[in-house]
Amino acid sequence: MSGNQTFTMIKPETVGKNNIGAVLKMINEAGFRIKAMKFTHLTKKQAGDFYAVHADKYFYEELTSFMSSGPIVAAILEKENAVADFRTLIGATNPANAAEGTIRKIFAESLSHNAIHGSDSEENAAIESDFFFSKVERF
Ligand code: CMP
Repeated sequence: MSGNQTFTMIKPETVGKNNIGAVLKMINEAGFRIKAMKFTHLTKKQAGDFYAVHADKYFYEELTSFMSSGPIVAAILEKENAVADFRTLIGATNPANAAEGTIRKIFAESLSHNAIHGSDSEENAAIESDFFFSKVERF
């Protein structure tokens, strides 16, 4: 994967509140191009596999239950400096600490229901993108 790509998931509470379009608009207006996109509902097992890096954390059970509680939108996004710029756009993991105007500040409810996921490194962006998308699903 190119260093100009990152991976995102619009989380179940954001989908449930009918905010997919509003979030995608902010992503597009920040200069990201959508390279791949999927509307899907993770099983508990799939959510556990995706977040396996957190398997030893106290919040793993809550995280994987929540992420499999309703549909999500998964996407690969492209832009120069994609990983860092996307993390700036979405704001701090805990929305209580998120800057004004960020996606989490606007849409998130709490640390566990924090509206959207963004990869924390280029390496993880590649791993997370490969979890959801084959080569022929990327444009
Ligand atoms: P995300 O960027 O999807 O990566 C892991 C998720 O775990 C994180 O967003 C939060 O929604 C969730 N989470 C729940 N509790 C915590 C915590 N104490 N620290 C970090 N992440 C947490």
